[in-house]
Amino acid sequence: MLKANENYLKLRGSYLFSDIAKKVAAFTASNPDRSIIRLGIGDVTEPLTPTIIKALKDAVEEQGHHESFRGYTPDLGYDFLRRAISDNDYKARGCNIEPDEIFVSDGAKSDSGNVQEIFSSDVRVAVCDPVYPVYVDTNVMGGRAGVFDEAKEQWSNIIYMPCTAENGFTPEFPAEVPDLIYICSPNNPTGTAMKKDELQKWVDYANEHKSAIIFDAAYEAYISEEDVPHSIYECDGAETCAIEIHSFSKNAGFTGVRLGYTVVPKALKDVDGVSLNTLWARRHGTKFNGAPYIQQRAGEAVYSAEGQKEVKALVSYYMENARMIREGLKNAGYTVYGGVNAPYIWLKTPDNMTSWQFFDHLLEKAGIVGTPGSGFGPSGEGYFRLTAFGNHENTKAAVERFQTL
Ligand code: MLT
Repeated sequence: MLKANENYLKLRGSYLFSDIAKKVAAFTASNPDRSIIRLGIGDVTEPLTPTIIKALKDAVEEQGHHESFRGYTPDLGYDFLRRAISDNDYKARGCNIEPDEIFVSDGAKSDSGNVQEIFSSDVRVAVCDPVYPVYVDTNVMGGRAGVFDEAKEQWSNIIYMPCTAENGFTPEFPAEVPDLIYICSPNNPTGTAMKKDELQKWVDYANEHKSAIIFDAAYEAYISEEDVPHSIYECDGAETCAIEIHSFSKNAGFTGVRLGYTVVPKALKDVDGVSLNTLWARRHGTKFNGAPYIQQRAGEAVYSAEGQKEVKALVSYYMENARMIREGLKNAGYTVYGGVNAPYIWLKTPDNMTSWQFFDHLLEKAGIVGTPGSGFGPSGEGYFRLTAFGNHENTKAAVERFQTL
C-alpha cells in the first residue's frame, strides 16, 4: 500500500518564505494600488556583472561549438573550478583545502539541506536559535527531530542553542553534547558574526567530543571586520571536525544562476574511521549529475581580477543599504543588530509586538515586507529581519517609511 514518508508528514506548515510570499500576494491582491517594498527574502536585486555575463555567454558558445564541452559534467565539479576555489578561497587564506575536498553543486541551500543524509539518523543535532529553517526542516525529513512541542515551539530531539542579545547572538555550549552542530557565520538571520576566538572554541569542542560542525559560510563576502574568519578552516584543527558550505548567490548574485560548493576534508572521519569525504562523493555520484558547465565557467570568472573587483562593488552596494537601514532605524528609536558583517539587520519589534504582529503592521501601515524573527525559531520571537539586498532607492524609501511609522 502506498504510504508517504512519515517524516515529511511531521513538517509544520509550509516553508517560511513560501508562507510570506502567500501573505504578500494576498495583500497585494486586495490592495492593488499600494506600493510595496520587499525587504523579506535575501534575494539579490542588482544585475549580474559584465565579467560574469561574458563568461556565461562564452561558455554557451563553447558548448554550442566544441564537442569536448557537451554532455554530462563531472559530478563533483570541473577541475578548473575546484582548483580556483582551493587557490582563492582557501590557500590564499592559509587554509590547506585541496581541490578533491571541494564538491561543486547547484547551490548552498540544497547542500545545507542534503548534507544531513551522510550522518546516521541517530545523531543528535544542535542548531542556533534563531536559525535558517532549512537545517531544522531537513533533519525533520531525515527522521532526527522527534516530536514537536507546541508550547516550546521546539522539536524534542533537536538541541536549540539560544542566540540572544544577552549572549551577543553567539551560541553557548549546550547541556547535552551534540553530534552534529550547525553554525552559520556571518549569521542568517541575526546578521551578527563570530570572532575567530569564538569559532576556535567550537572547533576545539567538536574535536574534543568527536562531533562535526556544519559551517555555513554563505555570507562570508560581507565580512568587514578583521577578527571575523571567512572560513572555519582558519581555525586550528577544523579539518578533522568541519564541513563548510559556500554560495555564489550572495557575493556574485547567482541566486537565479545556481552554483555553490561544499568542502568535506579528507581528514574528517566518523567514530569508526569512515571517511565523510568518500560518502559525500558517493552521494553526489548517485544523486547529482554535476553543476552545468556554463555556471561553472561563470563561477571561475568570479575569481578573476575583474570578477573580484565587481564582487567587491556589489558587496559594497548592498552594505551601503545595510548602513542606511541600521542607522535610519536607530535614529527612529529601534534597537538594531547586524548589518556590519552581513547583509541582514535584526531588529527588536516595537511595543512588545510579536514578530508576526509586526509583520502585519509593517505591511499594512508602511507597505514594507520583512521576515518575522519567530519564523526562524522560538528565540526569534519579538524580532524582525530586514535584508540589505534591495536597491538604494527602495531601501531609502523604506527607511523613510519606518521613520514616519
Ligand atoms: C533568506 O532570505 O534567508 C535566504 O534567501 C534564504 C536562502 O538563501 O535560501
